[in-house]
Amino acid sequence: MHSIGYRANALLTFGVTILALICAIVSYSDNFNSPSPTSQVQVLNINWFQKKPDGDDEVSLTLNISANLQSLFTWNTKQVFAFVAAEYETPKNALNQVSLWDSIIPSKEKAKFWIHISNKYRFVDQGSNLRGKDFNLTLHWHVMPKIGKMSADKIVMSGYRLPADYR
Ligand SMILES: *[C@@H]1O[C@H](CO)[C@@H](O)[C@H](O)[C@H]1NC(C)=O
Ligand SMILES: *[C@@H]1O[C@H](CO)[C@@H](O)[C@H](O)[C@H]1NC(C)=O
Repeated sequence: MHSIGYRANALLTFGVTILALICAIVSYSDNFNSPSPTSQVQVLNINWFQKKPDGDDEVSLTLNISANLQSLFTWNTKQVFAFVAAEYETPKNALNQVSLWDSIIPSKEKAKFWIHISNKYRFVDQGSNLRGKDFNLTLHWHVMPKIGKMSADKIVMSGYRLPADYR
């Protein structure tokens, strides 16, 4: 003889269990979403390249940055922070990293783009190491989720070289 109260309680317990199970499956499945972003960055122009009065090299570039970061957007993605950095080695430092451009991408629709821009932040060396320097352009991203931990990754594009002379 089951009372109505007992049945309602059993039903509620069942509902909560199902809900918990769905949440677990959904967050589990997010871990198994393996994104496959793509990017290409072209150096379209060296606008100028000089040694500043204080002796440090500075270069101004025009870039064409194209990327498709749409696969980073899942049900759990709030936004993505992306930046392009020039990375190179000098006798002093194994890794010099200079951010040239960044953007907050708010939605999947905005995650596929190309832009034609001059570096947004100054590309200055801590010294005079840039002539003829090989460098990488790396697209870094941080995924800010609605629930859970932030994650980050990057695409390294290599094979870039600065001119041998100031101009
Ligand atoms: C920039 O790159 C994109 C994709 O690679 C290309 O479609 C576009 O024509 C390029 N723009 C310029 C100005 O080179
Ligand atoms: C540039 O990229 C190449 C190939 O991925 C890598 O071997 C090298 O260490 C990178 N250089 C820097 C300074 O990160």
